[in-house]
Amino acid sequence: WFGHVETAAKDPILGVTEAFLADPSPDKVNVGVGAYRDDNGKPVVLQCVREAERRIAGNMNMEYLPMGGSVNMIEESLRLAYGEDSEFIKDKRIAAVQTLSGTGACRLFADFQKRFLPDSHIYIPTPTWANHHNIWRDAQVPQRTFAYYHPESRGLDFAGLMNDIKNAPDGSFFLLHACAHNPTGVDPSEEQWREISYQFKVKNHFPFFDMAYQGFASGDPERDAKAIRIFLGNGHQIGCAQSYAKNMGLYGQRAGCLSILCDDEMQAVAVKSQLQQIARPMYSNPPVHGAVIVSTILGDPALKSLWLKEVKVMADRIIGMRNSLKESLEKLGSPLSWEHITNQIGMFCYSGMTPEQVDRLTNEFHIYMTRNGRISMAGVTTGNVTYLANAIHEVTKS
Ligand code: LMR
Repeated sequence: WFGHVETAAKDPILGVTEAFLADPSPDKVNVGVGAYRDDNGKPVVLQCVREAERRIAGNMNMEYLPMGGSVNMIEESLRLAYGEDSEFIKDKRIAAVQTLSGTGACRLFADFQKRFLPDSHIYIPTPTWANHHNIWRDAQVPQRTFAYYHPESRGLDFAGLMNDIKNAPDGSFFLLHACAHNPTGVDPSEEQWREISYQFKVKNHFPFFDMAYQGFASGDPERDAKAIRIFLGNGHQIGCAQSYAKNMGLYGQRAGCLSILCDDEMQAVAVKSQLQQIARPMYSNPPVHGAVIVSTILGDPALKSLWLKEVKVMADRIIGMRNSLKESLEKLGSPLSWEHITNQIGMFCYSGMTPEQVDRLTNEFHIYMTRNGRISMAGVTTGNVTYLANAIHEVTKS
């Protein structure tokens, strides 16, 4: 039956983790996957999560959640994305369901897009998180790309981006990273977001925000929702994928939320019912444990403020490592400019290294990262930063 099945290509991100785990070298460093580590290179469970688990323990049954997921978790998620006093929440204009983290939210939206706007396309930034392409491909939504990154400046290609927005057919779907763009670490400024939002209005485009890193750009989840709030302020209808993988460290819990701002409450009810219809044959209903952790934390002022502090600690450690990596490269006498390490934000540094240079890092130095040159700064520690800088200098100096 299955003789014709060939082995699939390795995932460009999760395949790196597999290769790292298989390497017996004591020197090995994993700066591939975007997963936060403490300064000893160890995974972190936040104190607010531990405390939420303590409160939940013994108090929770294991019943199915509704198809759309936990109502409490969804309400808290909407407040986090749309604002505590959002009129859209009050007016019940948002259709929202709990999802299998950010990937699940994107996929559910892509399937919804295909089902109800079958002739539409999705515009995806160049570059983007590799899985975005897989998601819309498997949902059979044709993809187009728009300019985003400017390799020479290692910053935003704002002119190219605006051109592509203007040249796209009116009423196109665009995938936007709400903050801490993955993989480049390059975000538009507030002023640029305003211009983008204005142009979206002129063209009647639909913005779909992937907000996988809320809190990791500025250290403050509220500030990181700025782009979304600008669009909301300008009267856009939006879609939004939220994930608690990074900002609560709930990677394996698969806790996320998909929301779609509708014209009115009636439309929101209809849209939510259809999102649930799509979820039912795929996984019936989402997992309960992570959702209860999220709603316990966000629903309790003391736990929420502990969470906000812990997000800032994570974001600040990464900023510290950006400075250390840059300084180490400069101390080694690297003739190249490494300004972008500290100019870029969020979890990643888009280093500018070529796939061949990355291969050398892996083969000669046991340093594991994606071949597009992305360094997960969350995996850099005071213990490995000098080793990493030395290796980068070795492969980039000639
Ligand atoms: C990443 O970009 O490394 C993360 O979002 C993890 C993943 O699933 O790819």
